[in-house]
This record gives sequence, structure tokens and C-alpha cells, in this order.
Amino acid sequence: MDRRRLVFFPLPLQGHQTPMLQLASILYSKGFSISIIHTNFNSPNPANYPDFTFHCIPDNLSESEASTEDLTLLLHNLNTNCVATFEAILSQLMSKFDVACLITDIIWYFTQAVADSFDLPRIVLRTNNPSSFMAFTYLPLFREKGYLSAQGTQLEEPVQELPPLKKKDIPRIYTRFPELNDEVTHKLMETTKAARGLVFNSFEELEGSSFTLVRQHFQIPVFAIGPFQKQVKASFSSLLVEDRSCIPWLSAQPPKSVLYVSFGSIAAIDETQFHEIAWGLAHSKQPFLWVIRPGLVRGLNGRAPLPNGFLEIVMGWSRIVGWAPQEEVLAHPAVGGFWTHCGWNSILESICQGVPMICLPFFGDQMNNARYVTDVWRVGLRFEKGLKREDIEKGVRSLMVLKEGKEMTQRVVVLQEKASLCIEKGGSSYQSLESLVAHILSF
Ligand code: UDX
Repeated sequence: MDRRRLVFFPLPLQGHQTPMLQLASILYSKGFSISIIHTNFNSPNPANYPDFTFHCIPDNLSESEASTEDLTLLLHNLNTNCVATFEAILSQLMSKFDVACLITDIIWYFTQAVADSFDLPRIVLRTNNPSSFMAFTYLPLFREKGYLSAQGTQLEEPVQELPPLKKKDIPRIYTRFPELNDEVTHKLMETTKAARGLVFNSFEELEGSSFTLVRQHFQIPVFAIGPFQKQVKASFSSLLVEDRSCIPWLSAQPPKSVLYVSFGSIAAIDETQFHEIAWGLAHSKQPFLWVIRPGLVRGLNGRAPLPNGFLEIVMGWSRIVGWAPQEEVLAHPAVGGFWTHCGWNSILESICQGVPMICLPFFGDQMNNARYVTDVWRVGLRFEKGLKREDIEKGVRSLMVLKEGKEMTQRVVVLQEKASLCIEKGGSSYQSLESLVAHILSF
């Protein structure tokens, strides 16, 4: 008998594409055929997924538009430019196959109307976690209450509606077009209400109360089926070339001695922050593996020049790469800590490997995520008062050698065990995945 087919449409950003392709692999293992529609911007490599069929649509982005510098503008342009071509390819797939449903990133809001026009159920994947999703959901309320214009000490005040957030943790996306921000957020929330299901790469034991809030607010079936990365053999979705030379280097380091430092695929820092980070790391005297990807320092497309004298100090006991095989790095016994920008994938990958964190959130969901890491799960620390080399040096030593860090490691190992158990037969994510499969088959 022919397998029923699922059509996936990932958002072309690293932190979104990876979990979507992982979800596709999980559902393939449950007996579905998989078609992936993708844009030519940041397109995945079909050779890594021989069991799937891939269909590229032109996104009509100009060279300057195909950039994450203004994320809001990029998301708006993608949702505007892809309508006709997406509709055409979906129609072709539906005429050829028994398509059970469409699964898109929640940010592809235009696809709800297309799915409705074909009478095709649409399920959405939210690639970050339910607590930050609620913070996005409450943005209009927060604006009405004036929280978004909080300044100075007001930023430290608690958000009564969503504890334990402080006003500084409310999602913020910096854009030249604030009105587009409201439009994108509003449209994605409204179209989510019309979707037939909402999937998260997280698990009940980690964020049970946030899942309850999402269910109350959206009134559609919500599936907590993460961590995805523990249910697939390996991820092959890196958009940049991984420098694997760091793996043999790690293998020559003592257990739990290395701090892994990476700020994900989009976050950008200024040159002053870059220098504070460099000197803080050097003065901490703890071995580190630092990912300095092209574009990490704002305005510089290539690799940023390191401060004078820095390499002479750290050479021999630390390593710098342009992009790392992150999951493998976090799983390496030499890694004892992760300094992260708090993108959701990075946090979940760290929890899955039992690695405590230092948080340096930049935008969007990252401040919310950092608050959960430090105050709810208590598996990391955060520089609450800016980014000064003395504080970095102290923070790195706290995490890597002091009692505080050891206690965080013990707590994150408990979460790691929960992350393993929930996907075992009878576990919460296992059961939720079974329900998702039954839900799709009922369409
Ligand atoms: C974005 C947003 O910034 C984030 O807040 C949101 O939760 C998801 O979308 P990104 O900034 O790229 O994602 O961060 P993250 O979610 O952590 O995803 C980065 C991915 O790239 C991870 O899967 C990580 O393993 C991978 N990575 C990162 C590498 O493979 N190598 C690296 O050197 C760095």
C-alpha cells in the first residue's frame, strides 16, 4: 500500500530548518512519505535526505533582501513573494499523491489561506519553546500596558502575567520597520488559530505549565514531541561548512574542561562586545572552543580580526573555528560548559547532553529562554549587567570550576535524564507523537 504523503515547508533559517527536517525524519519513520518544498534562499541539500523528494520554489529576494540583517523584513518578504509559486507546486503534489496534510513553520502564515483553498489540513511547527511562544502571544497586551517602552530600572520589574519573566525578557526584534513586526506577529498568531495542530520541539516535563497556557489560549491540538534530535540518527542540515578539526582537538583535552562558545546562526555583536568576550575568555584561563562565524561582528562579512595580542595568549590551550558540528561538540566528554545566545535549538541540545550554560541573549525568544535557564531550571548563569571582561572572566570560572557550576551540572543532568525518558515507550513525547500520527491519519 502507498504511504500517505506529508508536505513540509521549512523556513529557510538554520534554527528553523534543522528541527523541521528532524520532524520530517521522525514522521518518515512512522510510515509517511515526505515531500519538502523549500526556497532557493538557504536551500537544504537533497543529497542528505535520499528518502525525501525536494521541490525548490523561487523566493524572488534580491541580493540585499536575502539576508538576516533585518529579520522582520526578510520574513515579510518571504511571506509575500512565495504565494503563487508555493500554490502551484502544492497543487502539483496534490494531483500526484495522496497528501494527508501540510506541515509548515508557524512563520509561513500565508500558507494557511492556500491550504484552506485546497481543503488541505495544515499543521504548524513552532521551532522555539511554548514559554517564549506565550510571550510573543501576549505582545499586544504588553504594548497596551506600556511594558514595551520600559526603560532603565523598569526593565528589571517582573511581568505579572508571565512569571518569572522580567520586562527586559519580553521578545524584541530589532527592525527598521516596526509596523511590519506587528503585522507578522499578528498574522502568525491568527493563522495558528486556524491550523489543525501545533507541534513543539520540547517536552512536558520541561515546560508543562507553558504547554497548559498554550492549549488554553489556542484551543487547537498541541503536540509536545521533543527533543527531536534524540529521535533521529543525525542532523545533516548545516547551512555552513563545519570545521571538524575541533573534534580531535577536543579529544586531547581533559574531561569537562572546555567551554564551548557559540552564538548561533543569526545573532550579531559589535566590535566592543567582541573584544570584551575575547579578553574575558583569555583572562579566565579556561580552555575554550569559540565559533566565530562570518558576520558575527556586525558590519563585517568575513571573520572578524581578533584583538592584538589575544592569539599569543590563548594559543596552545584554546581553539577558534568558523562553524562547528555543534551537537557532536556538546556530546564530547571534554566539554563542560556552553556559552550560548540561548536560541532554542542550542538550549535543547545542551540539555540533551547535560551541559550547563552561560546565557547571552540577543533578540526574539532568547531573553525568555535565558530566564528559564537561570531562574526556572537553574542550569546556567547570565550577565545581567552588561558585558564586561571582568564579569565574563568570573562567570566562566564559576561555571567551569566553582561549586555553583558543579551544582548546575547536577541539575542539568536530571533534565537530560528526563529528556531521554520522555521519548521512551510510554513517555510523554512518545505518546504525544503517537497522537500526532493518529491525528494526521484521521484527516
Ligand atoms: C534562531 C533564533 O535566533 C533562535 O532564537 C530561535 O530559537 C530559533 O531560530 P539560531 O540563532 O540559529 O536560531 O539559534 P539556535 O536555535 O540555537 O539554532 C542554531 C543551530 O545551529 C543549532 O541546531 C546548532 O546546533 C547549529 N550550530 C550552531 C552548528 O551546527 N554549528 C555552530 O557552530 C553553531
